[in-house]
Amino acid sequence: MSGSKVNGTVQINEEGHVSTDLPMLEGSLGPKVIDIRKLYAQTGHFTYDPGFTSTASCDSAITYIDGDEGILMHRGYKIEELASESDFMEVCFLLLKGELPNAEEKAKFSHDITYHTMLHEQLIQLFRGFRRDAHPMAIMVGVVGALSAFYHDSTDINDPHQRMIASYRLIAKMPTIAAMAYKYSVGQPFIYPNNELSYAENFMHMTFSVPAEDYKLSPTVARAMDRIFILHADHEQNASTSTVRLAGSSGANPFACIAAGIACLWGPAHGGANEAVLTMLEEIGSVDNVQEYINKAKDKNDPFRLMGFGHRVYKNYDPRAKVMQQTCYEVLDELGIKDEPMLKLAMELERIALEDEYFVEKKLFPNVDFYSGIILKALGFPTSMFTVLFALARTVGWVAQWNEMMEDPGQKIGRPRQLYTGPAERPFVPLVKR
Ligand code: ACO
Repeated sequence: MSGSKVNGTVQINEEGHVSTDLPMLEGSLGPKVIDIRKLYAQTGHFTYDPGFTSTASCDSAITYIDGDEGILMHRGYKIEELASESDFMEVCFLLLKGELPNAEEKAKFSHDITYHTMLHEQLIQLFRGFRRDAHPMAIMVGVVGALSAFYHDSTDINDPHQRMIASYRLIAKMPTIAAMAYKYSVGQPFIYPNNELSYAENFMHMTFSVPAEDYKLSPTVARAMDRIFILHADHEQNASTSTVRLAGSSGANPFACIAAGIACLWGPAHGGANEAVLTMLEEIGSVDNVQEYINKAKDKNDPFRLMGFGHRVYKNYDPRAKVMQQTCYEVLDELGIKDEPMLKLAMELERIALEDEYFVEKKLFPNVDFYSGIILKALGFPTSMFTVLFALARTVGWVAQWNEMMEDPGQKIGRPRQLYTGPAERPFVPLVKR
């Protein structure tokens, strides 16, 4: 536990029943937190917080978000600066090790990641066991979980060296797995990694090149891909990261924990939203229909939500969405795509929503997923690959958070309590009498 205790206590009074003093903890930034670890022992009461809207589940020095101000920082560096001045390998190093690398450290780290990109050849058999029309996220969950069956020398979670090898392996192999999932779905041969290429270039190469011809990638597109990876690298204790931590808290191996994180990311309320945004834009179809869909999103009796809008933490513009929007313009310009109807539609949707009282009042702004789908589509990715790309980039965040938890001496198995609402004790009724 590294948060420092501050003076002052909080009293919990429940209609004269209970009153107790609880300590408060203060981090380096952000609101103070009430330390309720002794609450049950002192009062016999639990707290109730489904969805963890008011609960800090751990202390962490990796990522800081100020949702009201629209600020995201990794290890103290703002995301906008990392996206414009840095590259994904540097951000990976920063997340994992706490500091930006110097030139020598960066070269060594990039080399080490590059030399872990190949998959065990036998894993190819595993890919072939999936149906061709399997969703690539389904393949990714399966294959990443299966890594623990192949890399026994990096599953001892109590050995820091093995933990770091597993982390490098996961970061390095994820692009290979993602590209293979794509190749399998389109019936093309798997392409092996090329150690001459950067992380983003290598991923594009394994995804889009074919043995029959040369594959050329523009530096602008490679840079855009790299930036998309940076923007998705970590986002503190979101659902998938919390899933990784919860799975890891039981002592599960890192490959199994990351597979759990991928499964959680898949849902449309989380990483699946980028796919859902494009599906939604296709459904809206034309700028003329925007108002109708805005009305649907506002209608309490209609389950439709504006995908790519709203965020549990950001009550302001998601800073990643701004960079993503800029990257979107750059990519479309580079690819010579003029008047992209999806972009026009997205911009109109954003304009109307940002002026609408419902969205203003509820502080619903575009999130990171709103523009990413348009870029990824322009780059040639099918919608089913969008969340896979998110998982690929988020892997470094997951492993950094997992390592941080494993190094925390105060780490305990995650075990929430509940408010029981089922029947009280009752006598068993034999089958003949039911
Ligand atoms: N469209 C319409 N109304 C919305 C939207 C939306 N996209 N998002 C939230 N609201 C409304 C809710 O209906 C609710 O209204 P109410 O107070 O009248 O009941 C209010 O805003 C608050 O919404 P909650 O669901 O309570 O907020 P929560 O923090 O639990 O959910 C979430 C956040 C899941 C992201 C939500 O905004 C959403 O479903 N957005 C669309 C999906 C999406 O884009 N997800 C990606 C998130 S970013 C990421 O994971 C990378």
